[in-house]
Amino acid sequence: MEDLREAIVRKRDGGEHSTEEIRRVVAAVAGGRVPEAQVAAWLMAVFCRGLTPRERADYAGAMYRSGATFDWSHLDLPTADKHSTGGVGDKVSLVWAPLMAAAGFAVPMISGRGLGHTGGTLDKLEAIPGYRCDLAPGEFRAAVAEVGCSITGQTVDLVPADRVLYDLRNRTGTIETLDHIAPSILSKKLAEGARHLVLDVKVGSGAFMKTLAEAERLARVMVELGEAHGRSVRALLTDMGTVLGLAAGNANEVDESLDALAGGGPPDLRALTVELGVEVLASSGMERDREAARSRLCRLLDSGAAMERFERMVARQGGDLGAFRRRRAAPFTDVVAPRGGNVHRVDALKVGHAVAALGGGRGGAGEAPDPAVGVTLRVAPGQAVQEGEPFATLHHREGRGLEAARALLVEALALSPDPAPSPRPILGHVGAPA
Ligand code: URA
Repeated sequence: MEDLREAIVRKRDGGEHSTEEIRRVVAAVAGGRVPEAQVAAWLMAVFCRGLTPRERADYAGAMYRSGATFDWSHLDLPTADKHSTGGVGDKVSLVWAPLMAAAGFAVPMISGRGLGHTGGTLDKLEAIPGYRCDLAPGEFRAAVAEVGCSITGQTVDLVPADRVLYDLRNRTGTIETLDHIAPSILSKKLAEGARHLVLDVKVGSGAFMKTLAEAERLARVMVELGEAHGRSVRALLTDMGTVLGLAAGNANEVDESLDALAGGGPPDLRALTVELGVEVLASSGMERDREAARSRLCRLLDSGAAMERFERMVARQGGDLGAFRRRRAAPFTDVVAPRGGNVHRVDALKVGHAVAALGGGRGGAGEAPDPAVGVTLRVAPGQAVQEGEPFATLHHREGRGLEAARALLVEALALSPDPAPSPRPILGHVGAPA
């Protein structure tokens, strides 16, 4: 066992760790060579006293090197990945990864599961019968090399220090600080080895960051950390006050992603996916003219090139899209508008809670979500509804949670007699010209 008392006391008293000291702390954690009480004390000292930018960069670096890392230089392709801080209806990764592969990037994407009221990319993909999110590192390497993109989950040997620390943070009230959150997120992206990163930092009721100022600060710290490790990183601050697209719930969201991959789908989903791609095309130098980059990505969606990559990725990972398309949909019930008006937003947090009430969330004990249940909106912000008009459809399992979900949907619908302002899915840029 190692003794971290000196490091703990230094941070407790407001001091600064050396690079070597941070390395020693993280290596001891990853190796299980330090008493849990000392790790918890260090986490709390950092929570209360904070880290300098240099300490944060050392912390992220030590974590990402604590386990397996990926190197894609043999592919001779630019590498890219995106990360979203999580929201409701956020199925962008399902469209973005194959789109960027079609654009000529290798996209090694290690994603997560739903957390709280937010959905997770892996849960969505697992709505496709047979899709495997547990690729071993060798399988992941082969899948990216063959298809150009792979979306899988974190294996035990990827960033083991973060796995230990995240669990302990959860148990010690030390989650909510940028000094832990940003290195934790970035360590996984750094280990995955993509050179160009784009971050989708969500803001609003359905996001973890409720204000633009908080989201901007997180984005700046993550961009700074990625750059300190030689990656090009850009971030978009995007609206999560209202649901993204019209679908929430895992199978529903795969359906909507397939629409987007076929060149259709809700305009906000397509626009955000393309803008996140434009950032990477511009930062990598593949297409610096943003309008040209936009047109190029739209063509790859409209021509079926992105869909072709998605189909290959799903098949490569054992998924059966035919079976998904032929599945028997869950029973559904419409929700009607209690009054007429212009739709200003459909509150993302309430819709997230409605999906959970229907059985589509992870729940406190982490139980698997039911992929078949969820919400499909029939109106988007900017449109009008009449009193008594169905504005949403709930897909449920024998009525489980139906009444609670219906009440939440009615509360979520923000109506006004005034015309709704045009939706603004993108609220700001960090690390890129506006
Ligand atoms: N996601 C992570 O990976 N880490 C955090 O600390 C928070 C969200």
